[in-house]
Amino acid sequence: MVLSGQHRHHNYTLLDGELNAEGQSPPAQHPSRRTPLARFVMLVTLAAATASLAIVSLANPLSTGQGKESQSCDSVFNGYQCRPEISHFWGQYSPYFSVPSEISTATPSFCKVTFAQILSRHGERDPTASKTKAYNATIQKLHSKVKTFSGPYAFLADYEYTLGADQLTLFGEKSMIHSGIQFYSRYENLAKTTTPFVRSSGEDRVIESAQNWTMGFHEAKVADRSTSHGDAGYPYSIVVIPETDGSNNTLNHGTCTNFENGPDTSGSAQSTWAALFIPPIQARLNAGMPGANLSVTDTIYMMDLCPFNTVANENGTISPFCDLFSKNEWHQYAYYETLGKYYGYSYGNPMGPTQGVGFVNELIARLTDTPVKDETSTNHTLDGNRGTFPLGRKLYADFSHDNTMTAIFAAMGLYNNSKPLSNTTLTEASRADGYSAGWTVPFAARAYVEKLQCLGQREELVRVIVNDRVVPLPQCECDGRGLCRLSKFISSMGFAKANGKWDQCFS
Ligand SMILES: *[C@@H]1O[C@H](CO)[C@@H](O)[C@H](O)[C@H]1NC(C)=O
Ligand SMILES: *[C@@H]1O[C@H](CO)[C@@H](O)[C@H](O)[C@H]1NC(C)=O
Ligand SMILES: *[C@@H]1O[C@H](CO)[C@@H](O)[C@H](O)[C@H]1NC(C)=O
Ligand SMILES: *[C@@H]1O[C@H](CO)[C@@H](O)[C@H](O)[C@H]1NC(C)=O
Ligand SMILES: *[C@@H]1O[C@H](CO)[C@@H](O)[C@H](O)[C@H]1NC(C)=O
Ligand SMILES: *[C@@H]1O[C@H](CO)[C@@H](O)[C@H](O)[C@H]1NC(C)=O
Ligand SMILES: *[C@@H]1O[C@H](CO)[C@@H](O)[C@H](O)[C@H]1NC(C)=O
Ligand SMILES: *[C@@H]1O[C@H](CO)[C@@H](O)[C@H](O)[C@H]1NC(C)=O
Repeated sequence: MVLSGQHRHHNYTLLDGELNAEGQSPPAQHPSRRTPLARFVMLVTLAAATASLAIVSLANPLSTGQGKESQSCDSVFNGYQCRPEISHFWGQYSPYFSVPSEISTATPSFCKVTFAQILSRHGERDPTASKTKAYNATIQKLHSKVKTFSGPYAFLADYEYTLGADQLTLFGEKSMIHSGIQFYSRYENLAKTTTPFVRSSGEDRVIESAQNWTMGFHEAKVADRSTSHGDAGYPYSIVVIPETDGSNNTLNHGTCTNFENGPDTSGSAQSTWAALFIPPIQARLNAGMPGANLSVTDTIYMMDLCPFNTVANENGTISPFCDLFSKNEWHQYAYYETLGKYYGYSYGNPMGPTQGVGFVNELIARLTDTPVKDETSTNHTLDGNRGTFPLGRKLYADFSHDNTMTAIFAAMGLYNNSKPLSNTTLTEASRADGYSAGWTVPFAARAYVEKLQCLGQREELVRVIVNDRVVPLPQCECDGRGLCRLSKFISSMGFAKANGKWDQCFS
């Protein structure tokens, strides 16, 4: 189905009883609107009317690495670098930042990229609906119980809770535009002459992220003086896969019963860690705001309010909430978020990696130009159709959520060379095979899977780059640049090829 311009304010609201990607039930006060359209895959065409790009500082995006953009501490090519010693330690609530890489991310001079797949998280957003209610309640409680706010807490006297729910913030929209520009720039040789094939999971903020990304890609293409090809394919079609109950959607988990209803140890892992690091923070806040009586949960919410208020500002200006906590406390908080993802969706959950298998089997199909073989979460109708799952393309872009991306990385066997994460000892990403929520699934996270043709190599090579960090792939005997032979990479995907543990989903 192709939707034209006037439909662009679509609302594919979550259906009854469904969990959204952050695992929250939809709020009771926002009754679901069950649109018949949401039952189908939609080819959404971005209206030409939306193409009036208001990206002021990006007039010449391909040379802005050090240009005007550097006046701000957020930039197209390096992401969010404002107070990195704290802002890179907000777990999945960190604004996108370029993660340090031990291996150069530059394409080796003797290689050329022949294929690139981006798997992206949506951009910065407001808190989920249930969280926004809970944060507001914490603020109301403070206002009703604390007589005077002084010292570092003085700003709270006038602080009003105004955050929305679930949708991208303006900062988040811009960061997706930046991502599209960065992708164009990195893969310029392919992007000049090709249009990416785009799919998105069906929640509003994800679709909008996909649209903003295509805007950035398009803008960069039009601005590229080395090409006179224009961009006739724009606005690009987007295949939207619904998040409705029972939908086979490789970009959003939801159909493996024993995973969805199964034991989730992430909450218990997180509370074990919270019991260790929160009490001193809680005591300090309660002493500084007599009468507040914040609980452990309230204290975590006070920390959450730092990233959420920061990304609610169009320029990403650091919120005063951030200064209530020390650098060390932000590392502890980041680890709290890491434990949630690891025990919820990665190797810490016996059924976690299986939720990413469908996407990995689609990736194998694209890398090898052969039909999808999968008996997990793929939709055979979609994947068997050249319109909705074309093979042989050079650029693919998929838009998803942090939780499903975490499962996909695990299904690929990334970050699999470390012991189960401790619930009592902080383990930094650099000591956990590169794994943390902040390094893998910050807002606007972007993983690239590249194929390269290199001099002296008959076979194509594969490289994986997550948020600008080249991920070493020992499972396929990668070389010092992180490059594996395609055949070895594919054989290392045995877990996905065997459908993970999908056979345990319903028993
Ligand atoms: C926060 O809660 C107060 C009191 O219940 C309510 O009046 C206000 O509208 C809420 N604000 C937001 C942004 O939800
Ligand atoms: C992002 O995309 C949405 C949906 O297409 C559009 O309404 C919005 O204006 C875009 N944001 C920016 C900053 O252009
Ligand atoms: C698979 O995709 C088809 C085509 O969009 C759709 O009609 C069908 O409902 C989907 N089935 C599942 C189980 O997701
Ligand atoms: C962390 O806690 C979870 C939930 O209680 C538990 O399953 C897991 O084994 C713990 N991890 C370690 C390394 O002890
Ligand atoms: C503080 O809150 C706890 C619940 O979190 C409650 O049991 C206790 O009575 C409260 N103390 C005061 C002094 O309000
Ligand atoms: C963001 O920065 C621009 C340019 O410096 C400024 O005009 C605008 O007022 C700022 N917005 C906010 C909300 O601070
Ligand atoms: C959806 O997934 C289930 C479980 O793998 C499978 O049995 C079913 O055939 C799939 N439906 C479609 C339309 O592909
Ligand atoms: C991760 O490593 C374990 C232990 O070596 C192995 O059994 C498992 O199959 C690996 N997972 C994936 C998805 O490759």
